Amino acid sequence: MAGLHIIDHPLVQHKISLLRDKNTGTKEFRELVSEISMLICYEATRDLPLKEIELETPVAMAKTKVISGRKLAFVPILRAGLGMTEGASALVPAAKIGHIGLFRDPDTKVSVKYYSKLPEDIAERDVIITDPMIATGHSAKTAVQIIKDRGVKNIKFMCVICSPEGIETLTTAHPDIDIYAGVMDTGLNEEKYIVPGVGDAGDRMFGTK
Ligand code: URA
Repeated sequence: MAGLHIIDHPLVQHKISLLRDKNTGTKEFRELVSEISMLICYEATRDLPLKEIELETPVAMAKTKVISGRKLAFVPILRAGLGMTEGASALVPAAKIGHIGLFRDPDTKVSVKYYSKLPEDIAERDVIITDPMIATGHSAKTAVQIIKDRGVKNIKFMCVICSPEGIETLTTAHPDIDIYAGVMDTGLNEEKYIVPGVGDAGDRMFGTK
């Protein structure tokens, strides 16, 4: 059933705690986001269909399983979503990668599109959108709509931390998608940052502040 899936695996929870620490530096932050993304992606791809094939091992013929069916694409929301694609695409190297650029207007807090470059055949793919933080949910909602407008039927969203407000916004607009998150935090502060969160994930990932 579509909805929110919290990945409460001990490794994910431990790594999120390291991420939260304000003393965690850029390099370690990036590595942790990548590792967490790999673990969350493992769960987000649990329902990929399999087909049976036959091959020859050094010992005998074997009936064995491989992933079949529709191909995948990852679509990071720039810029922080980029940090999640490395880990995810390590698990699914054949996946194509699109990019959506959205920024949050500092006054209205509404997300504004400034870039979109998606695989030409995206309508034939299942898509996993990545952004480490679902805060207000506006960027997530806009990104899902951009992907739907390209004809994609099966969309998932992967994040590290979400807020209750963001999930409400996203699931109200798009009740048909599955969301995979490491943890749901308490809420948002006046600047619309997740509390306690990690601060600005993009700045911490790329060392811009
Ligand atoms: N984006 C971030 O990077 N952090 C937040 O807390 C909210 C949005």
